[in-house]
Amino acid sequence: MAIFFDEQKEIFRLTTEHTAYFIGIVDGTYVGHIYYGPRMEDCGCGYLLRTKESPLPPSENIWDKAAFADAFPYEYSTWGVGDFRNPCLCVRTAQGSRTCELSYESYRILEGKPDLPGLPSAFAGENGAAETLEIVCRDTCIGLKVILRYSMFADSDALMRSVLLVNEGEEELYLERVLSACLDMDDESYQMLTLPGSWARERHMEYRPLRHGSQEVSSQRGISSHQAQPFVALTTPNITETTGEVYAMHFVYSGNFQAQVELSQFDTVRMTMGIHPQGFEWVLKPGESFAAPEVVCVYSNQGLRAMTHTFHELYRNHLIRSRYLHQKRPVLLNNWEATYFDFDADRLLAIAKEAGEAGVEMLVMDDGWFGKRNHDHCSLGDWQVNEEKLPGGLAALTANLKKLGMKLGIWFEPEMVSKDSDLYRAHPDWAIHIPGRELTMSRGQYILDLSRPEVIEYVYESVAEILRNAEIAYVKWDMNRQMTEIGSTFLDAAHQGELCHRYVLGVYELQERLLKEFPDLLLENCTSGGGRFDPGMLYFSPQIWCSDDTDAGERLAIQEGTALLYPLSTIGAHVSVCPNHIVGRVTPFETRGYVALGGTFGYELDITKLSEEEHRLMREQIALYHTYQPLIREGDYYRIASARENHQYDCFSVVAKDRSEVLVTFIQTAARANYHSRKIRLAGLNPRAAYRWQETGEIYAGETLMMGGILVPPLMGDYAGRLMHFVEVR
Ligand code: GLA
Repeated sequence: MAIFFDEQKEIFRLTTEHTAYFIGIVDGTYVGHIYYGPRMEDCGCGYLLRTKESPLPPSENIWDKAAFADAFPYEYSTWGVGDFRNPCLCVRTAQGSRTCELSYESYRILEGKPDLPGLPSAFAGENGAAETLEIVCRDTCIGLKVILRYSMFADSDALMRSVLLVNEGEEELYLERVLSACLDMDDESYQMLTLPGSWARERHMEYRPLRHGSQEVSSQRGISSHQAQPFVALTTPNITETTGEVYAMHFVYSGNFQAQVELSQFDTVRMTMGIHPQGFEWVLKPGESFAAPEVVCVYSNQGLRAMTHTFHELYRNHLIRSRYLHQKRPVLLNNWEATYFDFDADRLLAIAKEAGEAGVEMLVMDDGWFGKRNHDHCSLGDWQVNEEKLPGGLAALTANLKKLGMKLGIWFEPEMVSKDSDLYRAHPDWAIHIPGRELTMSRGQYILDLSRPEVIEYVYESVAEILRNAEIAYVKWDMNRQMTEIGSTFLDAAHQGELCHRYVLGVYELQERLLKEFPDLLLENCTSGGGRFDPGMLYFSPQIWCSDDTDAGERLAIQEGTALLYPLSTIGAHVSVCPNHIVGRVTPFETRGYVALGGTFGYELDITKLSEEEHRLMREQIALYHTYQPLIREGDYYRIASARENHQYDCFSVVAKDRSEVLVTFIQTAARANYHSRKIRLAGLNPRAAYRWQETGEIYAGETLMMGGILVPPLMGDYAGRLMHFVEVR
């Protein structure tokens, strides 16, 4: 890792172990993108900016500066001076103009990586060396200073980018669009890889060709969303796990976002990412600054796998702060699919008793324990225990659970308020709304206005009071609706455009405070399943509920897309009953366990209704969890085969960091008649080591397992699965 400035050539070189990123200054003014790709050192690459060919830079051709501006590969594009491609920055002045042009002013190279105020971002950690480049630019006409920030860690190939704006003028500025990163490159027949989805069908990998003009992936729902992961990648055609080039951007943010890819008239591409400009406007008073959230950029010329590993390692080493990151988490049973709202202490304890006997370590009491919450139309905001359901409150429940050797986890939806709640009756103004306009109902609830300090205080104290007065080991922090009628009666007219971003900052502030006061709390974020599964939330919680769809078949595609970016240890996954409550599919109990083991693992069912055989299988699964969890949590993930692509089987593996063992998960999604064993090539092993297949005792050379493959014996039935464990023979 090194940042170097070649003063003569006016070129910045940023290198990680395998990558290099070059930035050039043209005419002492224009900050241009020269190169991002495999590591190289030579600063003689400035010609790649094409400043010697028409359109020439303004110093040589002021007659047609616009032609230059519309073709120049900008590090950070602005609107209004001839670059007609997608801008990163749009600023309105007090006079109403929106034009902005940035000129290079100076640079700083810093040891370490500064935090972003109020925002989650990757951090160096105890042993991580980091370096940061700050390029300072200015628009003197409007008094705006723009700092482009680039950071790298010694142990990672990722590049973190963010932008800081400072109003150094005399008048207010109105930020209408402030994106966080821009990448201008020549097109190489790229295709766009994204992770679209829906509720219960999150993050399915999807490719699309690039067309001239702009294409995008975005969310305007107030959350990063089920529908769009804040991720976009450009890949060369026919990319595989191990071959092809990929340029990826992932946004460390949990609200509205926009990622655009624009194929220009000159067959160059501009890839941008940042806060969605729709409805966004931030008032920047003289002397104030604004930080745009961080974008993680990853380049790989060895296919998707290297990209995945870079993200996984970055998030494990530099983003997830929880002390549970490297700890085995308790096996939990969540009562949502078991009881929905229909429970009381007796029913929970009956479940807990049998669960405890099977080896479950924690009962998570989901929605329905507070206020008059017997359905989803009331009581959000009234965070008082319903003693009719739970006599003696949480103290009695935890005491009884303790006798069974179990901990208590609890569900909250702190950001919401039901129309039918004491909180809403007392403070209708605390909901996000526009006076005089009917507020759209969604799941019977409204969203609290987290731009209001007293709302933050109320929400925080409601959650904290419960945690202060009962021994609660785990919180599932849910969020179950999207934003509409976006208005705040707290903010004045000029600041209404700040609400969505202030809301996200409010969520971050709440979780930051919570973790400070309760450092031992295991936090799991959730948004109607996986609607806010993003790197921003990962900064606060080491695991996120991946999807309300617990069907093992559906989960293969959901978890595959999620694991493209996120370590398996972050993916909330539970075993539930069949027919599955969302899709009605029946899959073997064993397979449901294998798929849940590819995440955090736990249960979401009424154990008192399971058969004896299922009880036995459950005990077996929990034993598997204890055996394999350290490997799954700490190892390297390999996507080996995708049922989404081949429609027959899915396979992934986790290899120990020292390559001494590998756990292979194989699920046959569609059985086939009269078929031989399936050949699967493993990856990531030591070619020269010998491995014992633990289940059969057979010994194989690492190279044979990788080049020749293993033969998975034929399985009977759709969704039949198998775990295969290979351990190095020393
Ligand atoms: C959301 C969550 C579920 C459950 C319900 C409770 O949908 O994703 O797991 O907690 O809310 O209302």
